Amino acid sequence: MRAEPQSGRARWRSGKAIAGVSALALGAGALGVALPAYAAEGCEVDYTVANEWSSGFTANVEVTNLGDPVDSWELVWEFPGDQQVSNGWNADLSQSGQTVTASGSGWNGSIPTDGSAQFGFNGDGSGEIPGEFTLNGVVCDGGTDEPDPEPTDDPDPEPTDDPDPEPTDDPDPDPEPGERVDNPYEGADLYVNPVWSDNASGEPGGDAIADEPTALWLDRIGAIAGNDSPTTGDMGLRDHLDEAVAQAGDRPMNIQVVVYNLPGRDCAALSSHGELGQEEIGRYKTEYIDVIADIMDDEKYSDLRISTIIEPDSLPNLVTNVGSRDTATENCDTMLDNGNYVEGVGYALSELGEIPNVYNYVDAGHHGWLGWDTNLSPSVEVFHEAANTAGATVDDVHGFAVNTANYSALEEPHFDVDDTVNGQQVRQSDWVDWNQYVDEQSFAQALRDEAVSQGFDSDVGMLIDTSRNGWGGSERPTEPSSSDDLNTFIEDSRTDRRIHPGNWCNQSGAGLGERPEAAPASGIDAYSWIKPPGESDGNSEPIDNDEGKGFDRMCDPTYEGNVRNGNSPSGALPNAPVSGHWFSAQFQELLDNAHPSVQ
Ligand code: BGC
Repeated sequence: MRAEPQSGRARWRSGKAIAGVSALALGAGALGVALPAYAAEGCEVDYTVANEWSSGFTANVEVTNLGDPVDSWELVWEFPGDQQVSNGWNADLSQSGQTVTASGSGWNGSIPTDGSAQFGFNGDGSGEIPGEFTLNGVVCDGGTDEPDPEPTDDPDPEPTDDPDPEPTDDPDPDPEPGERVDNPYEGADLYVNPVWSDNASGEPGGDAIADEPTALWLDRIGAIAGNDSPTTGDMGLRDHLDEAVAQAGDRPMNIQVVVYNLPGRDCAALSSHGELGQEEIGRYKTEYIDVIADIMDDEKYSDLRISTIIEPDSLPNLVTNVGSRDTATENCDTMLDNGNYVEGVGYALSELGEIPNVYNYVDAGHHGWLGWDTNLSPSVEVFHEAANTAGATVDDVHGFAVNTANYSALEEPHFDVDDTVNGQQVRQSDWVDWNQYVDEQSFAQALRDEAVSQGFDSDVGMLIDTSRNGWGGSERPTEPSSSDDLNTFIEDSRTDRRIHPGNWCNQSGAGLGERPEAAPASGIDAYSWIKPPGESDGNSEPIDNDEGKGFDRMCDPTYEGNVRNGNSPSGALPNAPVSGHWFSAQFQELLDNAHPSVQ
């Protein structure tokens, strides 16, 4: 008897092997699935429509193997209508017509007897539940909701070589209420933003990465309710948090949210100016931060881990782009004088830091901005000041995020900062220009040390944005240059192919970097795609818009530069839309030049 779906949730259960003829043989023959060399005798599928909106739905699927252990699996079903999988997680999903095939991979690739695998996906269309599932060709139907009595004559129902589908690396997946874990990425699944995912999968080749997690940017007040930002789409913050709850399986779910709406935003550039004027700190607090904090504090989101990335493009400007420096701008001088960056960041840290499951990461620029001692230590002082303003304390800071505003390589494999070429230090080269670091990872680790030495908690962790710093493709040097001329050596050895490390807008030749990964290196909480790949950094020509965004010549491919990029060409792609808007050509560029490459 088939159990009927109840309120969007359905469960099917197959019988055990039929005497003499296994259900496997019956199911496999019917479907013509290529079968592995073991027998799955039965299966149960729990298919839950966890969220449904006007044009789509989220389904969570748990498949339980009631037969012999399987070390690879395929679950197949037919959609009842024109539903389309748009992106999935914890399984590889493919669709042909109405037929969907989900197969396990990695830690989710095998299922012991009575064990289960869980995965989920977002689909377009209605959340109507499919009628039948097969696991490796076995039809998961015909049973009842009652668990079968355990056979009494089974000598050893437990496999001895349990492949252990549970990840073993989570030090504390289930902290006491109110207690934060050290690294909220470790042992967690990461939220896949359906809005970005749809954009990515709409691009040729985009399916290969459409189920990667990316951060949600709240880049204006209207984005909190939805309908007012390219990255949130018609989903507001609550919809995304509901969706994150729906995407959660057995492991904790981490959703990354960028808080990005300071008064006088992006004071050293023009393309990400925002809606709030330089003095509008009151609105920032009451119409933006308070509203976000109220939503995140909702009890129903308390099992999520919410990583907030606080205000890219802000505090370091108060060191590097002010006063008598030749990089100073009037806007940054104003934001230093009126104190509203420090006040705003402090307020965000304090309000969001009160929520026990929120993990605040303060944006900390990138090595090509802060990598000189004269910038690094003073910037950490400003971070510390903000972390002690408007009610915040250093305990409200869980870590720092780097490289969101930029494209710096994660690691330069062919030289270190301490190397010399023909007696000259690498630091003396035009490219490195006396910087103390040649790449993001060494910079991130050093910034962490500096933060701890200035009074931040000793367990702060770093995020490195690897969404656009892959620098693969045919231009990527595969070995160090043999030149004994320092500048030639660096030019021919560096993997970062930008014209100048100060270039930041829609960089030509850039690729996707490391895929998001938890705890990849000492002091690093995660490599993360904070800037969603394919969203523009700024328009390449003036474009009228109602977002406050300006035209920055650093996004104009014909521009010859300014003092902040050593008066070099901008290296930007042409025909770019306003920042945050979908930029198909950039997405293709990132895909083509990905490093590691996208299979
Ligand atoms: C834009 C934001 C956008 C973000 C993510 C920024 O450069 O100014 O509007 O949300 O990028 O794409």
